[in-house]
Amino acid sequence: MKRRDFIIRTVSGLAAAQVPAPLVAGARFSGNPFTLGVASGDVTEHSVVLWTRLAPEPMAADGGVKQGVVPVRWELSPDADMRQVIRQGETTALPRFAHSVHVDIRGLEPGREYWYRFFVASHASEPGRTKTLPPANGHPESVRFATASCQNYTHGYFVAYDHLLADNPDFVIHLGDYIYDTSFGQTFRKHDAERAPVTLTDYRRRHALYKTDKHLQRAHGRLPFFSAIDNHDAIKDLDPAGLTQRAAAYQAWYEHMPVRGYGGPGSNQFQLRRNLRLGDLAQINLLDTRQFRDKQVPCRDDDGPTYGFGNYRIRCAEMFNEERSMLGKAQEWWLKKNIITNRAAWNVIASTSPFSPFRFYIGEKTLNYVGGWDAYPANRKRIIDAINQAPANAGHPIILSGDLHSFWVIDGAQSTAAADRIPAVEFVTSSITAGWPEPMARPVTDNLARNPQVKFHEPHRRGYLLHEVTATEWQTTARAVNDVKNAQSGAFDLARFIIGKGEPGFKQIL
Ligand SMILES: [Fe+2]
Repeated sequence: MKRRDFIIRTVSGLAAAQVPAPLVAGARFSGNPFTLGVASGDVTEHSVVLWTRLAPEPMAADGGVKQGVVPVRWELSPDADMRQVIRQGETTALPRFAHSVHVDIRGLEPGREYWYRFFVASHASEPGRTKTLPPANGHPESVRFATASCQNYTHGYFVAYDHLLADNPDFVIHLGDYIYDTSFGQTFRKHDAERAPVTLTDYRRRHALYKTDKHLQRAHGRLPFFSAIDNHDAIKDLDPAGLTQRAAAYQAWYEHMPVRGYGGPGSNQFQLRRNLRLGDLAQINLLDTRQFRDKQVPCRDDDGPTYGFGNYRIRCAEMFNEERSMLGKAQEWWLKKNIITNRAAWNVIASTSPFSPFRFYIGEKTLNYVGGWDAYPANRKRIIDAINQAPANAGHPIILSGDLHSFWVIDGAQSTAAADRIPAVEFVTSSITAGWPEPMARPVTDNLARNPQVKFHEPHRRGYLLHEVTATEWQTTARAVNDVKNAQSGAFDLARFIIGKGEPGFKQIL
């Protein structure tokens, strides 16, 4: 087969329906086309998505490629020196996907490390490393992974990732706010524009800027990621007025992430929920809490006083409407089925936003945080019912979340109000850099005494959570960065928590 025929036949299904742009056989670039690094993600026991994007000038609208379809070659090896190539192929970087490349490799060995690299014209990328998940029917002794969220470029360096990488996790779960639409007025590092992104070009620039952070690049180049979308990644929920903008945000997010499931240009469909199977050790249900959720703020502004920039709102009747949904019907059904049928030791829900109830009080009035599940109590109740109805061998429930730019550990069984009780411990990771402004932090601190389920709360530290899981014990360490404004900053263990399988609550051991 001629080279050109081969390339056209291997153009992805999404592109094949279109008239192909001119193919550039002898592509030339003004500089290194791999300025945004390489990445892997969406790993299963047998597969991985490898990613890169050609962008010799990352902040240019076209990434500086200035060409049509560009052939890109890739290689996969079991060794870091890449001498033994076990798989290789050629794909195409298309202008309509900002010359991003997604290679979905199947038929790999479970629980194995692999190395990969890309070639285009006379350029080779740095080698990347990835690792498949343990065999679905296997008995892994332990799994180690990290949860991270909320990285605002303007608030500091993503230096937390250097420490996360040194902790040697098997994979990373990113719980959203991978990019920020706004600096909130901070100027430590400047965004490409002060105006929030609206168009596809805007979102591409913002993602390219974030991907130039070397700490983030190093982590992507060594660890597979699973990623969720939250409010700052694609600012609109299921709001018809925002669908064009959301489609632009989804496309740029896809173009910069090692993921599957994208519905295609202009589409508002992105299959983002994931069920991670870690042998008989754990299943992790990574939720899509944004694509299908009903309006976040159901209560009118004049229903009562709001504070925390309108994020804490009086509990109006509409908030408790039985029909209100965070997940949409199909995803709720999927989650409940997974919770009940799980037979792994740990039964995990990973949500962008906090799951457990927290009540704010102003005088006699009670307020809820509308950024999380407190704005969707009926949907949450149906999930809690599924946890309670699951058989005894359905695994120990654990909840992981982010969004709050602060570390929390919540023992849901300790809520004062019976209606708020949850049979699970929730670990909320802090942000990689994003600050937690006083108007958001103060109402939490002021109400901690009336929310005894919150057993640990640290609002001032940035960082991530490291989880080490065996069949009998779940251990979570809050890893805090000393100073996000120092690119060489150290990090330390802020606190460590242990849960014994089948035992209530948790113990803090550091
Ligand atoms: Fe955030």
